[in-house]
Amino acid sequence: MIERLTGGRLASGVFRSGNEVHRPRSDFAASVLTLLESRGFRGAPRFLRRTGETDVLSFVPGHVPPRFRPWSDAQVGAAALLLREMHDATRGSDLAGRFDVVCHHDPGPNNAVFQHDVPVAFIDFDEAAPGSHLEDVGYLAWTWSISSRQAMPLDHQARQVRLIADAYGLDVSERHALVDCVLERQSRNVRFWTSRAAPADRIEWSRREHAFVHLHRDVFDRELA
Ligand SMILES: Nc1ncnc2c1ncn2[C@@H]1O[C@H](COP(=O)(O)OP(=O)(O)O)[C@@H](O)[C@H]1O
Ligand SMILES: [Mg+2]
Repeated sequence: MIERLTGGRLASGVFRSGNEVHRPRSDFAASVLTLLESRGFRGAPRFLRRTGETDVLSFVPGHVPPRFRPWSDAQVGAAALLLREMHDATRGSDLAGRFDVVCHHDPGPNNAVFQHDVPVAFIDFDEAAPGSHLEDVGYLAWTWSISSRQAMPLDHQARQVRLIADAYGLDVSERHALVDCVLERQSRNVRFWTSRAAPADRIEWSRREHAFVHLHRDVFDRELA
């Protein structure tokens, strides 16, 4: 049985057939998944084969959360560690080019598969590209632990961002740069969704999140110092 997989934010034409996922061909994503497997990283789908313009990947069993919400320290720490392991598996590769790693570029909870309530894999490597690891860490900090709605209080958010820095293993100078990376990533989101003529509320949301971090950056910076 073929089942259309939705829940993503881009209309991508992703289908499930048994243990396989069929998605539109992406040369770079296929190469990254092949590299990750060859370097022993288990937290991503495996690239199985290409049929015409369709890439066939393994289906990762588990739960993919449909929306952003507060996560526990253990969940956030596991996500940061998973990102670190993914980056390490790409370091120094041809695919990373002149950058330090291959970035996922969209490692939010909506692109993570949870098993027993713990994130164990990232999916959706369509945006993957060479980059600086801090771009991904900034995006992960934003999407897992920061929210202008403050469902989790600000000081708790800041503490979780430090926990991400700890779990990922950022050094002192990287911690100083992290809030700027969050802000840059949020600005980039505004540009991205604007260029795709996304609904106004999505663009507004990215703007609001950016304004929130900008206003409270001292709280985050203090925690990361
Ligand atoms: N390899 C996979 N293993 C398990 N679930 C997947 C896999 N690929 C996609 N999915 C599911 O399909 C949904 C949409 O796929 P995704 O790759 O995130 O595309 P997009 O976000 O562009 O719509 C995901 O939210 C997830 O539920
Ligand atoms: Mg997705």
